[in-house]
Amino acid sequence: MFDNYKANLERYLDELVPERPSELQKMETYAAKHNFPIIGPASGQACYQIARMIKAQRVFELGSGFGYSTAWFARAVRENGGGEVHHVVWDDELSQMAQDHLQTLGYSDLVTFHVSEAVQALQKTGGPFDLIFNDIEKPAYPASLAVIEEKLRPGGVLIIDNMVWNGRVWDKTEQSGTTQAIRQATEMLTTSSKWITSLLPIRDGLLVAYKAG
Ligand SMILES: C[S@@+](CC[C@H](N)C(=O)[O-])C[C@H]1O[C@@H](n2cnc3c(N)ncnc32)[C@H](O)[C@@H]1O
Repeated sequence: MFDNYKANLERYLDELVPERPSELQKMETYAAKHNFPIIGPASGQACYQIARMIKAQRVFELGSGFGYSTAWFARAVRENGGGEVHHVVWDDELSQMAQDHLQTLGYSDLVTFHVSEAVQALQKTGGPFDLIFNDIEKPAYPASLAVIEEKLRPGGVLIIDNMVWNGRVWDKTEQSGTTQAIRQATEMLTTSSKWITSLLPIRDGLLVAYKAG
């Protein structure tokens, strides 16, 4: 029964996600074909749900790729009555792909596209934000938290992807800089009285932190 537990759980959670626009499904197919690391349907649905729950109108994404996660946040912001979603990636080609997808989905008017290092872009953009999503290169997670904390409103939510890192986080023999950075960011958020934090084991681990302080 527990053979292939992880793959079966991931498939089951993805299958629970209601039907979504065909453009989103096309993006999923592209990611699978090109081995591009998108958050996938179950994490996308969780991000969309959280953004709806807190009525997010200002969302900032760090590390947006070709716009898949952006589309889930844009959908929530539209249904929350409108606002803005910031897409940031340092690769011009990915930014262009994202602009095309979000236009097809009808969300262009909500999204601001930055081609930049993501933490620098957040630093330069006026806050506060209701929700910040972090999916940048993992060694940069710990240093990004100070800027995120400054830009998130009290009562806002931070979501960070890949916080299980395929199980490497609990493997004591695994001491790479990337894994250490993920452990450090997790510890910073779980031990601070300013945050109420849970790590949801959806796909590769979605950390959800509520800015309480
Ligand atoms: C994991 S992918 C993003 C996937 C996206 N969040 C989704 O689910 O659709 C991360 C992307 O952000 C870019 N990236 C990583 N670190 C970055 C940084 N510090 N600043 C800007 N872009 C970054 C990567 O090159 C890659 O295109």
